[in-house]
Amino acid sequence: MIEKIKEYIEEVDTFTTNNKEDLEAFRIKFSGKKGLINDFFAEFRNVANDQKKEYGQAINALKVAAEEKVKSLKEDLESKEEEKGKYGDLTRPSEPIALGSRHPISLVKNQIIDIFSRIGFNVSEGPEIEDDWHNFTALNLPEYHPARDMQDTFFVQTNPDILLRTHTSSVQVRYMENNTPPIRTISPGRVYRNEAISARSHCFFHQVEGLYIDKDVSFADLKQTLQYFTTEMFGKSKIRLRPSYFPFTEPSAEVDVYWGLETETDYKMTKGTGWLEIMGCGMVDPNVLKNCNIDPQEYSGFAFGMGIDRIALLLYGISDIRMLSENDMRFLEQFKSVL
Ligand code: PHE
Repeated sequence: MIEKIKEYIEEVDTFTTNNKEDLEAFRIKFSGKKGLINDFFAEFRNVANDQKKEYGQAINALKVAAEEKVKSLKEDLESKEEEKGKYGDLTRPSEPIALGSRHPISLVKNQIIDIFSRIGFNVSEGPEIEDDWHNFTALNLPEYHPARDMQDTFFVQTNPDILLRTHTSSVQVRYMENNTPPIRTISPGRVYRNEAISARSHCFFHQVEGLYIDKDVSFADLKQTLQYFTTEMFGKSKIRLRPSYFPFTEPSAEVDVYWGLETETDYKMTKGTGWLEIMGCGMVDPNVLKNCNIDPQEYSGFAFGMGIDRIALLLYGISDIRMLSENDMRFLEQFKSVL
């Protein structure tokens, strides 16, 4: 019997494997509930008294050897696995990179920035939480001026001087305060108005406003710039300017682009007229220049402003403006192939 145990100790010592299942089979064979070691222990009472000591020592040696073997092989296997986890199979093809998509608002904004940067406009940005001066008063909209009603405003309740900007014209005021002409800048950004949310309008949206101030800037320059823009942006060069009113420009106009009436969508979008209103514009009011420390005797300029969201709806055929802020992956992923 002792001889048998010694043979098993030998077997244990020489055993090796790099496979988890084999190791587990080995463990069960020796140390399992119904394993060899327990069998040998059960035999103990049948062993002659004078051999009990030697027998006992032999099984103990087998027991320790088997346990140590399992422990050390297990550690080996685990460290090998860890290594594998760290580097993986270095010969396998790499994982495809999950490309995100750009938001339609960003796509349109970048396109507008690109078009104006080609004719020398830089990009300026400002805070979304504004003070009354930059959003209204400096723009010729003093307190109690009825035109303030044109833009329903979110005020910060504790301080009526602080509000969420209703247009990015506020950025233009800041820019004029901090720079001297010639000024050529466009200001893209999010704006807020206290309006009912529907498929066509939201309480926040995005604008790009433009400002050009130099000596002898004329209305003709404005028209030419706008025509350049609509041609580059939409491939449409026919525009018309309708007289309008903004407190910060004089004269002011609404710009329509001739979209055409070729398809049913053209009819729908233009309400059967072929014309689509895309922005407001005008010559900067001398009062606004004065408010921003620019001498209106020396300088003149034009400004324009358009909504990015509307243009995105138009260009991508999106029927509901709320889609733009709902973060629905099924919607956003559709812009994956557009850079
Ligand atoms: N700020 C105007 C608006 O938000 C747009 C505009 C900008 C009009 C500049 C004229 C000149 O509606």
